[in-house]
Amino acid sequence: MATYENLLLDLNNGILTITINRADKLNALNIETIREIKNAIQQVYDDEDVKGAIFTGAGQKAFVAGADISEIAELSELNARSFAERGQEVFAMIERCNKPVIAAVNGFALGGGCELAMACHMRVASENARFGQPEVNLGVIPGYGGTQRMTQLIGKGKAMELMMTGDMITAEEARALGLVNHVVPQEDLLLKCNEILGKIMGKAPLSIGLVIECVNAVFNKDENGYQTEANSFARCCSSEDFVEGTTAFLEKRKPAFKGL
Ligand code: COA
Repeated sequence: MATYENLLLDLNNGILTITINRADKLNALNIETIREIKNAIQQVYDDEDVKGAIFTGAGQKAFVAGADISEIAELSELNARSFAERGQEVFAMIERCNKPVIAAVNGFALGGGCELAMACHMRVASENARFGQPEVNLGVIPGYGGTQRMTQLIGKGKAMELMMTGDMITAEEARALGLVNHVVPQEDLLLKCNEILGKIMGKAPLSIGLVIECVNAVFNKDENGYQTEANSFARCCSSEDFVEGTTAFLEKRKPAFKGL
């Protein structure tokens, strides 16, 4: 069982809430926290009791205010590359997770914080949340997948503007851009995320995992997403949950999925 210095983990009703817990540093991601996030997301993959996950930040001010600038300041070219690759690998694990992962963005989501949120399958923000990629102010660029995922999520023109100006945008502006799915009062944030995950958890788990895989396939230029979809569709049709889902519909009752 992994131990955590910078994260709080809470498993409730199948939902693992992972809280980045460095509130005095606005939950900035130091290297140790990235390592811990890797262990936590590995638990989401491996633990059968975990059906979905939420990432959020401790306190009411910040989700994550970026990678830890005191560590970035010390990077040389050589270790900067592996620094970026390590973070990218962890965030790719989140993106590819076969169980739903939601970012509950409770305040500043800047730099690596915005990148963490974008690696999740969807984002719900509190009204006070602020998003941005301010790396150009420091003489760097996003390094944890931000240039790629922001462009995927909001399109090239807006992504170029946000990443070149380093501007911060409000939760409502982020919603209008499609960066955020919902904006809610801060006191309702976790409730809303739990509600969405609760709804998803009522569906066939295999279908959910394959929806994630197929949607991600859109952005993999080496993969034929239509083929991935057809294969996944066929896979569903050989599952027990498919028999249960279709039978329940015909018998006019609610399906009881087993994840088989
Ligand atoms: N890395 C390391 N420490 C950070 C941090 C980061 N990304 N963001 C905030 N902190 C620390 C501050 O240094 C400060 O620590 P201190 O109390 O020991 O001095 C503490 O968190 C509180 O931040 P502070 O700047 O005093 O809060 P604020 O309300 O005045 O401003 C922000 C909030 C988010 C606007 C500001 O902290 C900020 O611009 N942070 C950096 C954002 C960024 O550039 N992220 C991308 C990094 S690649």
